[in-house]
Amino acid sequence: MRSLSFLSMEYIFLLMSILSQCLKFGSGTAAVVHAGNGDGVQPLSKIAIHKAVYALHENASVKAHPLVLGTKGGDSDWVTVEIECPKPSEDDWIAVFSPENFSSSICQPSDDMEQFPHICSAPIKYKYANDSDADYKKTGKSSLKFQLINQREDFSFALFSGGLSDPKLVAVSNVISFANPKAPLYPRLSQGKSWNEMTVTWASGYNVIEAVPFVEWGMKGESQTRSPAGTLTFHQNDMCAPPARTVGWRDPGFIHTSFLKDLWPSSVYTYKLGHKLVDGSFVWSKSYSFKSSPYPGQDSLQRVVIFGDMGKAERDGSNEYSNYQPGSLNTTDQLIKDLKNIDIVFHIGDITYANGYISQWDQFTSQVERIASTVPYMIASGNHERDAPNSGSFYDGNDSGGECGVVAETMFYVPAENRAKFWYSTDYGMFHFCIADSEHDWREGSEQYKFIEKCLASADRRKQPWLIFVAHRVLGYSSSYWKDASFGEPMGRESLQGLWQKYKVDIAFFGHIHNYERTCPVYQGQCMHVGKSHYSGIVNGTIHVVVGGGGSHLSGFGPTQTSWSLYKDSDFGFVKLTAYNHSSLLFEYKKSSDGNVYDSFTISRDYRDVLACVHDGCEPTTLGS
Ligand SMILES: *[C@@H]1O[C@H](CO)[C@@H](O)[C@H](O)[C@H]1NC(C)=O
Ligand SMILES: *[C@@H]1O[C@H](CO)[C@@H](O)[C@H](O)[C@H]1NC(C)=O
Ligand SMILES: *[C@@H]1O[C@H](CO)[C@@H](O)[C@H](O)[C@H]1NC(C)=O
Ligand SMILES: *[C@@H]1O[C@H](CO)[C@@H](O)[C@H](O)[C@H]1NC(C)=O
Ligand SMILES: *[C@@H]1O[C@H](CO)[C@@H](O)[C@H](O)[C@H]1NC(C)=O
Ligand SMILES: *[C@@H]1O[C@H](CO)[C@@H](O)[C@H](O)[C@H]1NC(C)=O
Ligand SMILES: *[C@@H]1O[C@H](CO)[C@@H](O)[C@H](O)[C@H]1NC(C)=O
Repeated sequence: MRSLSFLSMEYIFLLMSILSQCLKFGSGTAAVVHAGNGDGVQPLSKIAIHKAVYALHENASVKAHPLVLGTKGGDSDWVTVEIECPKPSEDDWIAVFSPENFSSSICQPSDDMEQFPHICSAPIKYKYANDSDADYKKTGKSSLKFQLINQREDFSFALFSGGLSDPKLVAVSNVISFANPKAPLYPRLSQGKSWNEMTVTWASGYNVIEAVPFVEWGMKGESQTRSPAGTLTFHQNDMCAPPARTVGWRDPGFIHTSFLKDLWPSSVYTYKLGHKLVDGSFVWSKSYSFKSSPYPGQDSLQRVVIFGDMGKAERDGSNEYSNYQPGSLNTTDQLIKDLKNIDIVFHIGDITYANGYISQWDQFTSQVERIASTVPYMIASGNHERDAPNSGSFYDGNDSGGECGVVAETMFYVPAENRAKFWYSTDYGMFHFCIADSEHDWREGSEQYKFIEKCLASADRRKQPWLIFVAHRVLGYSSSYWKDASFGEPMGRESLQGLWQKYKVDIAFFGHIHNYERTCPVYQGQCMHVGKSHYSGIVNGTIHVVVGGGGSHLSGFGPTQTSWSLYKDSDFGFVKLTAYNHSSLLFEYKKSSDGNVYDSFTISRDYRDVLACVHDGCEPTTLGS
């Protein structure tokens, strides 16, 4: 009985404070001033749960139906919520809670200053009661629609008055749930540690004692085989700070990764996720397919998409519809539309902007499922994944909301030696990628610097002519508003430009700044080539690209005009690279709103151009003859 469990919450809710500390850039970053229209505050953190009081009204009601969701096997479904409130006001709002029993009895105070009882958990999303009916404040009646995804637990809906900043709990709904809350869901692919290995990561409610997780897979149309999966999870005490450690905490279930090995190059495989229960029965996901990666150096059409800072939004309008990452759904939809022309995706940091509200990770993996279940979805670590004071991050901000990297490292597989140090290399045919981790030290002498050099040096440029460097923060060049006029993170270029030059990196990609900018092939602030649309000949500079307009509210540009900046656009978009062969690469910047190309260039290259000696980038010669 719904109301019974609330009788235990007789007093005032004094809830842990959710600090609105989710500033886009914590201190310790190069101070960047932003011209943007969004306010950059995680919507769930606007709810001042610490002030919530208990004000159940006997004549108020919230009713949700249907009671069982996903009866046809779906992992998302629509729910209708009917509200009746005798004393309505404009700022009444409806919170979606999951698990439904958000009562006092299950939470521990995080320090002595807090008083009982608490609501232990933030809602997973919310809407204003007037969302579908402006007359609500007169009639006190409203019917709202929510689209829920399967997140392993049941749901309830709570009506609060007093707005987000002064919440009073007025009524709580009946409980609803998915037919199988534990179902395996939201697979994401990633390249394994070798080119012929694909990894599949997904979430379920089954721990290893209840069921054995595996992937059934094989070449399309041929006999299928089974590969086991490893299982990971993380706990509240793995989080570093609030809100992840307090009200933002939500049990992530179990995260499984299976390693599909010995793949044939560029072949279509089908797969589905399975769990074998102790009683011998099986639970299956739907069926998916992917194309395996090309052999390193293979000459074939290869298409790569790169963007940063996409985040998520709720398609049902919850959380003030797309207010936090306004471009996120457009970017997602544009990639889905062109998916048959995309081979691999790099989302280079600031993945979900969950900022310590763990529920948001399921919602993100659900949003990108179509993409991530079809092509490898490679991620880099950003400030919103990693940064937490006193946790070993290079920057000391609170930008991860206390997640301190744990959630990203577990929810997504990356082929790093140590997933807590988020740097790795990966091969894709004629491309060699070196993914750096800007939230850990990259300076000369650091462990990461050694990795970057080794990664760049390990590209055999005759086979892999296209050498790409990636980091979340701008370690290269950006014309955003850098207070210290550095045009990038302090110590970024100083530390790394020697390596980019020596190893003749073609393109370096960065996110973090929410816009698009492209430079000439540049070295030490000087353009090394003339022209904007075509480059050929020796590689004596690296093209730097900021592609942080994946979805989060946009950044502007500073007033300084530089010779190296060739194209600037403060809009949502992403980059697509097309390698036609070893000597021809096409670069395109597309807007998320229409998918059209707004900036592009080509590179033509012969192998000898990479071998040629360039300024500051020559191996000492032996002078032997
Ligand atoms: C609830 O409605 C009943 C019947 O209309 C009424 O008698 C009662 O006073 C109402 N309760 C409150 C708290 O308004
Ligand atoms: C609904 O409520 C919100 C929050 O109080 C308010 O900003 C908005 O203007 C209201 N919408 C309508 C249509 O009344
Ligand atoms: C709340 O529900 C979860 C599972 O859904 C359960 O583990 C927990 O014990 C419940 N807590 C209370 C207080 O009923
Ligand atoms: C991080 O949050 C803590 C606790 O709220 C606060 O004391 C500290 O100043 C914040 N640090 C930064 C860099 O904003
Ligand atoms: C860079 O290469 C171009 C030819 O591709 C050449 O004209 C130019 O002089 C080179 N610049 C330097 C500094 O080596
Ligand atoms: C490489 O691809 C480009 C673009 O399709 C084409 O013009 C060129 O002839 C190709 N070169 C080789 C060596 O195949
Ligand atoms: C999303 O795309 C639509 C359709 O092109 C466009 O009208 C809208 O402005 C875009 N939204 C944002 C935030 O760019």
